Amino acid sequence: MLTQDKVMEALQHVQDPELHKSVVELNMVRNVQIDGSAIKLEVVLTIQGCPLKGKIREDVENSLKNIGASSVDVTFGAMTKEEREALTQSLKKGATTESGMPAMLKPDSGVTFITVTSGKGGVGKSTVTINLAVALARLGKKVGILDADIYGFSVPAMMKVDQKPTMIDQTAIPVVSHGVKVMSMGFFAPGNSPVMWRGPMLNKWIKNFLVNTHWGELDYLLLDLPPGTGDIAIDVAAMIPQGKEIIVTTPHHVASFVASRAGAMAKHTKHDILGVIENMAYYEEQDGSKNYLFGKGGGELLARQLETDVIAKVPFANPLESNGSSVYDEDSFVGEMFTSLAEDLLHRKQKAV
Ligand SMILES: Nc1ncnc2c1ncn2[C@@H]1O[C@H](COP(=O)(O)OP(=O)(O)OP(=O)(O)O)[C@@H](O)[C@H]1O
Ligand SMILES: [Mg+2]
Repeated sequence: MLTQDKVMEALQHVQDPELHKSVVELNMVRNVQIDGSAIKLEVVLTIQGCPLKGKIREDVENSLKNIGASSVDVTFGAMTKEEREALTQSLKKGATTESGMPAMLKPDSGVTFITVTSGKGGVGKSTVTINLAVALARLGKKVGILDADIYGFSVPAMMKVDQKPTMIDQTAIPVVSHGVKVMSMGFFAPGNSPVMWRGPMLNKWIKNFLVNTHWGELDYLLLDLPPGTGDIAIDVAAMIPQGKEIIVTTPHHVASFVASRAGAMAKHTKHDILGVIENMAYYEEQDGSKNYLFGKGGGELLARQLETDVIAKVPFANPLESNGSSVYDEDSFVGEMFTSLAEDLLHRKQKAV
C-alpha cells in the first residue's frame, strides 16, 4: 500500500536538476494526497517559470510509478520569499568558513585549483581551459570553470553557452556545459546583472564568485585568467595561494612573456607550476608533415626559464563541431591530447597524495 512515508522515500531520489539535491531535502514537496494508487502532489520551485519543470515532473512520475502509483498528478507552485531565503541559507551552509572565507579554499576542501595564464593575449588560454576542463569531466571528475577574465570574458561564447545561471536571490547556480559547471562575468552583462555582482563588489569579485556561486562538490576548478600579470592575476594569486599554474604560450610569444612576467610572477605568486603548454605549435599538412608556422622551441625555452616542463604541444586545429564552439571533439587529435593531459594530471595528483 502506498503511504506518505513511501512516497517521500521514493522522492528522496528525485533531484532538483540544477541544485543536484533531493527535492525532499530541499523542502520542495507539498500536499501529497494518496487515493488508492493515485497520487497528487505539489512541487514548489525556487523560481517561477523554472525551465526544468518538465524534467522534475518526469522524474517524480517515474519514481512514484516505480513504487506502484497508477497515476501521478504533479502541480507546480513557487516558493515564498521566506522559503527561498531558507533554501539559500541551506545551500550556503558550509560554503564559507567562520571567518567568511570561501570554504573551498581550505587546504582540505578536496578542490584542486588550476589557473591558466600567459604573458600575451590570444595565445589560447581560454581554449586550453575549456578543453582541459571538458577532458577532466569526461574522465568522471567534477569540474568547474571560473572565467576570471572579468572584462574580456570569452568562455560562454567559446563553449556556446547561451543560458544564464539561475539566480536564487543572490546565489548563482552555474550553467553546465559539456559536463562542466561554468561561471563567467559574461553572464552578467550590464543591464541584467544582480547589483552585488557589479560596481563596488567588483573588487571582491573572486571571493564573490567563489562564495555566491553554488558550485556543489568539485574536484577541479579551472580559472581562465586574462593575459599578463595585471590586477586580476594578482588577486587570484592572493586569494588562491595553493593554485597550480599552467602557462600557455605560442612558439613565438615567448620573449615578451618572459620579460614581463618572470619577475612579477616570482614576487606575487608562489603557485606551483604544472607546466607549459605550447599552443599553435605547428600545422599538420595534408601529407602529414609539420609546418612550424610560428617557429619552434618557444615552449621549451619558456619551460627552462620557469624550471618546468612542456606538458603539451597543441597543433593548429579547428574544432570539429561546426557550431562555432571551441571544444574539440573527444575523438579528434587535439581532443585526445587533452584527454592524455587530464589523465596525466590525475595521475600526478594520486602520486602526490
Ligand atoms: N590550437 C589552435 N588551433 C586553432 N585555433 C586556435 C587554437 N588555439 C586557439 N585558437 C583560436 O585562437 C583564438 C585565441 O584563442 P583563445 O581565445 O583561447 O586565447 P586567449 O589566450 O584566451 O585569448 P585572450 O588573451 O584574448 O583571452 C581563438 O579564436 C581560438 O579559437
Ligand atoms: Mg581568453
